[in-house]
This record gives sequence, C-alpha cells and structure tokens, in this order.
Amino acid sequence: MTAEKIAIFDTTLRDGEQSPGCSMFLNEKIELARQLENLGVNIIEAGFPIASDGDFEAVKAIAAECRNTTVAGLCRTTEADIVRAGQALKNAANPRIHTFIATSDIHLEFKLKKSRHEVLQMTRRAVSMAREYADEVEFSAEDATRSDLSYLCEVFAAAVDAGATVLNIPDTVGYTTPTEFAGLVTRVRETVVGDRDIVISVHCHNDLGLAVANSLAAIEAGARQVECTVNGIGERAGNAALEEIAMACVVRSDRFPFRTDIRTELLYPTSQLLSSMISFGPQPNKAIVGRNAFAHEAGIHQHGVLSNPLCYEIMTPESVGVPTNEIVLGKHSGRHALVARYEELGFRLDADAVAEIYSRFIALADRKKNIYDQDLIAIAGNTYPVAIAA
Ligand code: KIV
Ligand code: ZN
Repeated sequence: MTAEKIAIFDTTLRDGEQSPGCSMFLNEKIELARQLENLGVNIIEAGFPIASDGDFEAVKAIAAECRNTTVAGLCRTTEADIVRAGQALKNAANPRIHTFIATSDIHLEFKLKKSRHEVLQMTRRAVSMAREYADEVEFSAEDATRSDLSYLCEVFAAAVDAGATVLNIPDTVGYTTPTEFAGLVTRVRETVVGDRDIVISVHCHNDLGLAVANSLAAIEAGARQVECTVNGIGERAGNAALEEIAMACVVRSDRFPFRTDIRTELLYPTSQLLSSMISFGPQPNKAIVGRNAFAHEAGIHQHGVLSNPLCYEIMTPESVGVPTNEIVLGKHSGRHALVARYEELGFRLDADAVAEIYSRFIALADRKKNIYDQDLIAIAGNTYPVAIAA
C-alpha cells in the first residue's frame, strides 16, 4: 500500500519573512523560492501582496519563476486585498489565493470589532470573490484553536459552500496541545468536510514548543497539508519546522505512514541558504539542521557512535545533507578542500567559479575567525546564484 501524501506548504517567505530579523531582498526571495521548489515543497506562500509593493513584486516574480510548484498569496477578506493578490498571481502556472479572518471572540471583539454574523458574511464574500481569480482557494480561520468550535465549523462550512478548496486550521498563538488539536481536526473533518474533496490544512506556531507535535497529531487525525517554515522561523517563537516534519515522516514511517515530496538531502543546504540571507541561523541544538545535531562529545556517546552510528543517531547526516567532512576551512585552506565542501553543499563549480570564489573566501577568512557553511553559500550566491541543488 502506498503511503498517503502530505502536502508541504512552505510559508518561510510570508510568515517567516514578516518576523524580526528575517527580511529578505527580492533577489534573495527568488533564490530561496527556487531552492524550495527543488526541495520538493508543494505550495510556496510567497508573500502578502497588499502589505507592501515589495511583497507584491515578490509574489509576482516568484509566480513567474516557479512553474512546478503552486504559488500562494495571502490576503484578508477585503476586496482590495483579494484583487491585489489576484493581480500578483496573474501569471502563475498554479495560483492559490489564501484568504483569512479571525474567528475567536477575543479577536472579533478587540481586533476586528465585528459580530460573529459579520465575520460569517465576510468569509462567504471573500471566498467567492477569490474564486474569480484562482481555482484553488484556501480559507484560514485565524486563532481557530481559541474559537468556539461550533462557530468555527459554521464558518468553515460557509467557506466550503462559497468555493474554498482548502480549509486551514491555524494555531495562531501556539496554544493547543496534540490531543486537543487532533480532536479539533477530527471534528472539522467529520462535521464540515465529510467525503468532499476538501483538503484540511494546519498551521501551528511554536509558543509552547509544540508546533511540530501538534502538526503531527493533526496529520494522524486527517490533515493532509501542513504549513511550515525552514528552520522554524516565523512570528514570535516561530512556525512548525519543515525539516522536522519531513524527517518525522521518514524516520518514524512506522507511526506516520505518510510521505512528502521533500528531497531530504537538500534540507541542510536549504537551511544554510536561508541562514545566509537573514540575521540568524538555527540554534546549535536545533533538530536536523543545528550545528550540534550530529555532534558527539561525551565519551560514552563517541564510543557508541564509532562502534555503530545507530547507537546514537536515528538518521544519517548524509540523509539530510549535513556534510560529514571534518576539514576545518580557514585562511590556510587550499582550493581542493574548498571545492570538496561546496560539493557536499550541492554546488558544482567550474574552474572560473573556483577561481572567483576562492579569492572571495580567502578575503573573508582573513577577516573572520570561523567560516561557516552559510558564509560559503553567501559567497557563492553572489557569484553563482543558481549553483545550489541541481
Ligand atoms: O498564524 C496565523 O494564523 C496565520 C494565518 C494568516 C494563517 O499566519
Ligand atoms: Zn502564522
């Protein structure tokens, strides 16, 4: 029996980019989008077109660039937002409009200043207007996990009647727990979706450190799209980390008989590429892509790993693209070591590229004590922006 597919919806360029220290330039966004497409992401949320001209241009450019992946643009439920998202996605091969409105009483009273009835009407109008611009329309009920469940289901039902093809359940403030969230997903699946061809999606924030656990519980309860970001970047404590969800499905396929299209050997290069563009990388002990994720210092652990890596490693570094080469790069390093490291990172460099990149590398190594993979990616990115992950 083939495992059921989980669609990976990446929002690094939207929820991630809107968080502190994560702004990117247009050329960086396009480069990252290309990498995400290579990685096997199914849907790229490229931005929030009404938010700024920069976001509009990014969504438009990524829609023109990424022809195999679905490209989504976010909008609120107002006409102006939807029109702007529609314009940004006009030339997309596979466009998706993602419209959202909050459904919790606290958001209705203090933020939107709308009644439940008004929000219901706004949902209907927005989804049917969005369908004029795209066949795929995703509706999100912001703060779903703190919303009244019957009302939430009523809003979702209205969205489906108006033409939504994907219902997204955001845990906007990272408040829910795995069992509770699985119950919520089950209720939406049973009472709203039934046997209709509607995808249930989840979007979990990490305020209690539960974003990935909640997403996996939701998959078990019937969600078939997961929204996530590279390195788990995103508002406040971040979003569910893409690399953790992808590897949970691989390493624990006994518990999660699901597959994704992610090429796992590109996870680390993608993480490093993002880190080279924003102002911070993953913390050293970050699962899958952190500097210490495959490091062993304690004697007992070292002995175990040397006898058999399976003693203390549940996946190989190679399977997620982490270079195992112990050579330390510095200003005394030669071209061979540098080329070998680039190859491990997915770059194939010709002689001209090696010459140019090597001189940049030496210049940097003269100024900087430690050279990290993200420095190497940044050096190459300036010279050969599409060199990664052929
Ligand atoms: O966290 C959230 O609720 C969101 C929505 C716009 C999906 O980012
Ligand atoms: Zn979010």
